[in-house]
Amino acid sequence: MTAFTYRSGGLHAEAVSLAQVADAVGTPVYCYAGSALAEGYRAFAAAFADQNVGICYALKANSNLAVVGTLARLGAGADVVSEGEMRRALAAGVPPERIVFSGVGKTQAEMKAALTAGIFQLNVESLPELEALSAVAVDLGVVAPVALRVNPDIDAGTHHKIATGRKENKFGIDFDHAREAYALAARLPGVRAVGVAVHIGSQLTSLAPFRAAFKKAAHLVETLRGDGHAIDRLDLGGGLGIVYREETPPSVADYAALVAETTRGLGCRIVLEPGRALVGNAGVLLTRVLYVKAGLHRRFVIVDAAMNDLIRPSLYEAWHGILPVAESAPGDLVEPFDVVGPVCETGDTFAVQRPLAVPQPGDLLAILSAGAYGAVMASTYNTRPLVPEVLVKDDQFAIIRPRLDYAELLALDHVPPWLA
Ligand code: LLP
Repeated sequence: MTAFTYRSGGLHAEAVSLAQVADAVGTPVYCYAGSALAEGYRAFAAAFADQNVGICYALKANSNLAVVGTLARLGAGADVVSEGEMRRALAAGVPPERIVFSGVGKTQAEMKAALTAGIFQLNVESLPELEALSAVAVDLGVVAPVALRVNPDIDAGTHHKIATGRKENKFGIDFDHAREAYALAARLPGVRAVGVAVHIGSQLTSLAPFRAAFKKAAHLVETLRGDGHAIDRLDLGGGLGIVYREETPPSVADYAALVAETTRGLGCRIVLEPGRALVGNAGVLLTRVLYVKAGLHRRFVIVDAAMNDLIRPSLYEAWHGILPVAESAPGDLVEPFDVVGPVCETGDTFAVQRPLAVPQPGDLLAILSAGAYGAVMASTYNTRPLVPEVLVKDDQFAIIRPRLDYAELLALDHVPPWLA
């Protein structure tokens, strides 16, 4: 997280003091470093510069228009999984011909929207979905460019809730049924199967499962060509992991070399759908200490952020680094604390027995590596206002999503006439 460093005793995002952001916007608040977003994309683009690759940023990781816009300006395409995400990608300036629509359950309205926008490709995950898409396309008088997502039955070696490539997972078409699925596609008037897609999971920290999946997919391309299908695209999904703690994920260069090695000679347009690898370490969640509670068995740091703002620790037992915004001195007392939020659930815990320089009420903490799957998974649980977001550029910052006030939050509900 090189964009977040201590300067003059205070944690900064680029040249902006996080204490200043917290004072101006309040806490909790997500803060992203624009330079880190750009660096993440540029590193990817540079590693793949000599391959025929389209980098379609997976919006699900962070779909704020300012974040997507930052990447779109650098040339990123988009991987979207809903009409809402597609609208965000288009609004942020991603051209339709760089948009891939993934997802296991697209509605017919979403298919229609995607075909009307003229996107690059729809990734289809089942035979009924393929038939539905063909019907929608025929109605519109178009032919849908399609990649079939196959399930290669490979263990991604990641948390079970974010592993998607095993045969018992809901994703993709069983590998052994792939040829039949392409045969069906060839018979349907509204689809043109032009590609193969795989995605085996997220936060992968080893190349081996990628290698196994990419090889299977590449082999399938050849088999399908032998069957007479004109396959010229291969979508290898996302999933490259980042460092939260002491993981050693593959470098982008090694990942790129693997893509080259496993797809060499196919002559396919390669599509990649990185999410976390581009944005994960470009953001922090800033929170303020409310109370320090010394129990008999544990000491708790109660902060003003909660599981509704960042759900990863609750949902996946995810580990996120935590730094004090005011730099601690080498001699400061460090003791273990549980860092918890105010929500009425034991799962509302950011860290357990974490060594921290003894915090005081009012201190600011930065929860690290929160740029991916943070704000996008936030909710208003416990009627807490949806967490705001800030983007930094050099020494400036802008609020890219304001905090809803309570009146706006309550106005989302409508009271029926019989209760009025
Ligand atoms: N493509 C497809 C089809 C996907 O399902 C995903 C992620 C991606 C690309 C992007 O994967 P990435 O490069 O970000 O690993 N909420 C979880 C992660 C869920 C990932 C879902 N699919 C978390 O916080 O860890």
